[in-house]
Amino acid sequence: MFEQRLNELAARHLTRRLTPLHSGVGPVVEMAGRQILLLASNDYLGLATHPEVIQSAIEATQRFGVGAGAARLVSGSLPPHQELESALAQFKGTEAALTFGSGYLANIGTIPALVEQGGLILADRLCHASLIDGCRLSTADFRIYRHNDTSHLKSLLVKRRQARRTLIVTDGLFSMDGDLAPLPELSRLAQEYEADLYIDDAHGTGVMGPHGRGTAEHFGIEAQIPFQMGTLGKAFGSSGAYLAGTSMLVRYLMNTSRSFMFTTAPPPSSAAAAIAALQVMQREPERRARLWANRERLFSGLTQLGFTLSPSASPIMPILVGNADTALSFAESLFTEGVYAPAIRPPTVPDATSRIRVTVTSEHTSSHIDQALIAFQRAGESAGLI
Ligand SMILES: Cc1ncc(COP(=O)(O)O)c(C=O)c1O
Repeated sequence: MFEQRLNELAARHLTRRLTPLHSGVGPVVEMAGRQILLLASNDYLGLATHPEVIQSAIEATQRFGVGAGAARLVSGSLPPHQELESALAQFKGTEAALTFGSGYLANIGTIPALVEQGGLILADRLCHASLIDGCRLSTADFRIYRHNDTSHLKSLLVKRRQARRTLIVTDGLFSMDGDLAPLPELSRLAQEYEADLYIDDAHGTGVMGPHGRGTAEHFGIEAQIPFQMGTLGKAFGSSGAYLAGTSMLVRYLMNTSRSFMFTTAPPPSSAAAAIAALQVMQREPERRARLWANRERLFSGLTQLGFTLSPSASPIMPILVGNADTALSFAESLFTEGVYAPAIRPPTVPDATSRIRVTVTSEHTSSHIDQALIAFQRAGESAGLI
């Protein structure tokens, strides 16, 4: 049965395999014994390998050990977790924040707790898999609206039974397309139809907004969004996630979110690393400025080369290819040219929309980007894409 399923995946060019990485994530990494330009990580601000962030993780490990021992409700809550939550609440301008072991855990634990049987969840078609799984785990009814289509969402809100608890769920910045959710319109609809808005800002946190507070800050509507989730494994360079909101919300989730209650707390080192990352991020806004300058240079270079890019508004710049096999062979040619940017295929993206997902970070230099553009030109020409 397993073999048959694997053979089916292989026939459709959908098999996944791991590419060994022999150095920490950075602009240039060691893969297959070569120095490769990495255009794939979500470590947007280069904090995963920042000395201060590493030092903070080391000190927390020396003081508190490598593991938390149990769930925080069981064996006690360590200072790094508590301090991180205070720092995140201050950063997000909310009363409180609750941390989780990962973004996946945050989404699958909070959504079922926020809306239960009798309620309704309306989610964007391109929501991240963890949001979709969270919606499926909820006992509420679950409907999908077309990507960023607020008219479609409105029609579903109009059709719903009265007085039904309703949750609108969206990515703030879509992970595989790099575009933004129309948050002001979503928030307006939520208010008009007495629904709540849940944003997963995994990719927006640290990247979007004048202070990096995320997509809601970018649109100037932070105070209007009751449930803001973000991750610590992307621009924060560490791992984990948070839900920011009122103190009541945090107390409620602490008592109802199964992925908070029934799992060992993240290692104290991850929390300490995230605290240090937040400090560096706030002290050095020039990191975000470099990230955006790099994004502009690469985006305009790829456009000028003639690639079809998704309508990205962020450092995530997917090159749309279509077939899974073309995406794979394009990724392989890029690797031969010294660039790693992964082929993203179904089920991560809808059928016939396979792509190369290109990301930049603040740590790439102009010459890295120019080198990448030469590689894209060569690989794109040989794949017949430009
Ligand atoms: C939009 C989005 N939400 C949630 C997640 C899951 O976060 P984590 O990697 O921390 O589990 C990811 C990516 O991993 C993501 O892109």
